[in-house]
Amino acid sequence: MTQPEALPPAAAASPSADAWRDLLVATERPEPFTPSDGLFWDDPWIGEQLLAAHLDERTLAASRPAATRERTEAHLVAQGLAGPGVDVLDLGCGPGLLATGLARAGARVTGVDLNEHSLAYAEATAREQGLDVTYLRQDFRTIDAVSRYDLALQSYGELSTFDDATRDAILARVHAALRPGGALVFDVSTPECHPDEPPSWYRSQGGFWRAGAHLELWARLRYPGDVVCDRYVVIDAGGVATYRMWFHDYTPDTLTPVLERAGFRVEALWGGLDGGAPGDDPGWFAVVARRA
Ligand SMILES: C[S@@+](CC[C@H](N)C(=O)[O-])C[C@H]1O[C@@H](n2cnc3c(N)ncnc32)[C@H](O)[C@@H]1O
Repeated sequence: MTQPEALPPAAAASPSADAWRDLLVATERPEPFTPSDGLFWDDPWIGEQLLAAHLDERTLAASRPAATRERTEAHLVAQGLAGPGVDVLDLGCGPGLLATGLARAGARVTGVDLNEHSLAYAEATAREQGLDVTYLRQDFRTIDAVSRYDLALQSYGELSTFDDATRDAILARVHAALRPGGALVFDVSTPECHPDEPPSWYRSQGGFWRAGAHLELWARLRYPGDVVCDRYVVIDAGGVATYRMWFHDYTPDTLTPVLERAGFRVEALWGGLDGGAPGDDPGWFAVVARRA
């Protein structure tokens, strides 16, 4: 039997052992809501890919399609939640796809987001269309407005992505930012949104995570209390990075007491922000929570 050729010294040296250790650490089961290793929403490369995903009608990865957004804008106006003279705070506004529509309907909109690429797109749209929208590059966990808005809007599930303490702190800030009688309107995922799926991996020559060649190892990890982690281990020449997307899925029964403790009264439950019937999409529902 021929002996395998000895590896040249450089390849046999410690970097591969380091990479193996890094991989073992990256694929350990994390404690609930362990953050990602690096930036995500505000990472320059990933942020650019996210903007492309928001604008790509073929993917639901970042925003809902234009037809759903148009139904959402019309529904919010028809319900008297948005419209001329209404002050709207859009938390995690992305490229302002909903903010633009609501401003066109006459609302005065403030959009908050971390992704500079999305905000640049949103600002350019507002300028081109002469719309009354203010965009802030800010972490919405730090908003500190007081009795300033009639409607706080959060679209596409962001409230599901936080641990309980952070969620409650966000709700407290939103409560303070709303005028008495103002409404928080948002959608969240349900446990049906995150069914069990086998782990998977792929190799890319350049794509969502990195400009150059990389591998992605994906796994969905399940925790008690309807908490799920979608974990992406990304490996490239620069090393191993782990991105952890956390979801606390809700049902109307688990979410209502959370909102009541935060000083909101649940006024309506919809199948989605566009006002569909509850259960239309079993993976989602939307809530109108009135500042009590
Ligand atoms: C799933 S996207 C939804 C975007 C938009 N609401 C829509 O429906 O098209 C979530 C957005 O929230 C933003 N985001 C996430 N966490 C944030 C935070 N802590 N502060 C501000 N923006 C945040 C992201 O940059 C991203 O634009």
